[in-house]
Amino acid sequence: MTLSAAPTFPTALSLAAVRVQTRLNTALADRADEPVIHAMRYAMSGGKRLRGFLVLESAAMFGIAPETALSAAAAVEALHAYSLVHDDMPCMDDDDLRRGQPTVHVKWDEATAVLAGDALQTLAFELLTDPALGSAETRIALVRGLALASGAQGMVLGQALDIAAETAASPLSLDQITRLQAGKTGALIRWSAEAGAIIAGADPAPLRAYATALGLAFQIADDILDVTGDAAVAGKRLQKDATAGKATFVSLLGLEGAQARARSLVDEAEHHLASYGHKAHTLIDAARFVIARDS
Ligand code: IPE
Ligand code: IPE
Ligand code: MG
Ligand code: MG
Ligand code: MG
Repeated sequence: MTLSAAPTFPTALSLAAVRVQTRLNTALADRADEPVIHAMRYAMSGGKRLRGFLVLESAAMFGIAPETALSAAAAVEALHAYSLVHDDMPCMDDDDLRRGQPTVHVKWDEATAVLAGDALQTLAFELLTDPALGSAETRIALVRGLALASGAQGMVLGQALDIAAETAASPLSLDQITRLQAGKTGALIRWSAEAGAIIAGADPAPLRAYATALGLAFQIADDILDVTGDAAVAGKRLQKDATAGKATFVSLLGLEGAQARARSLVDEAEHHLASYGHKAHTLIDAARFVIARDS
């Protein structure tokens, strides 16, 4: 390897993770010494930081420095952390382990989990007001995009469809599961990849197409992991989706069918970035990582 070689994907991902964690630490540094703030810090620690990485890497593709895009990377990780805190609550997936630690409602209580999640969500939008991200217009575009991606036509819609599917009279169709996944996981991943282009004032369409395929592959891998993974490595309870009656690609296509679909989505994701040539290689590595991961 020469000195000018681009970092390998694991190095790039862990570098992004350190940067994002530092920004999140700063954001909560001077807040009150209250359980809800402790719970927010707790919920924001750990994780792969794939969404934050996508923000930084899509920005880097247009020559934007990490410090410029960092608050957007931290914002999506705060938003994602909120979604996980609520996803784990007894009224949703009822999980007691997340990122290798007890979930927030187990470590504190349900009220703290609701409130920490709420405050992580508003923290995300606070972070997007950072002038480092660019003009007021750029920041409004980021805020609007993240609001749409998180809300009733994005992540929240997907989560609602996911919960409704548990008690549906008949199994969901492929189109219905695709729509569910595009919301619950896809929307935040799409916003993350588009954010770099928005910050750079570039066309977000190719990154959007890339991330649409990537997001779906990511959730299929999560569903496969639920069947084949090891909880000690994944840091969360597994082998739960089938019993809970979750509508997943695995429930519909079987393990091999889901694996084949994930592989073809990764090829598709790669294809959408072809016009960026070598500059896109880390994002292409990210797509391959997404379906090969064990956590
Ligand atoms: C888990 O997301 C929840 C899903 C959307 C499938 P990640 O697998 O990205 O979780 P962390 O952030 O690395 O813990
Ligand atoms: C969670 O999906 C998606 C969101 C939090 C928006 P899952 O319920 O499949 O995620 P895990 O398996 O608990 O991480
Ligand atoms: Mg869930
Ligand atoms: Mg869950
Ligand atoms: Mg899951």
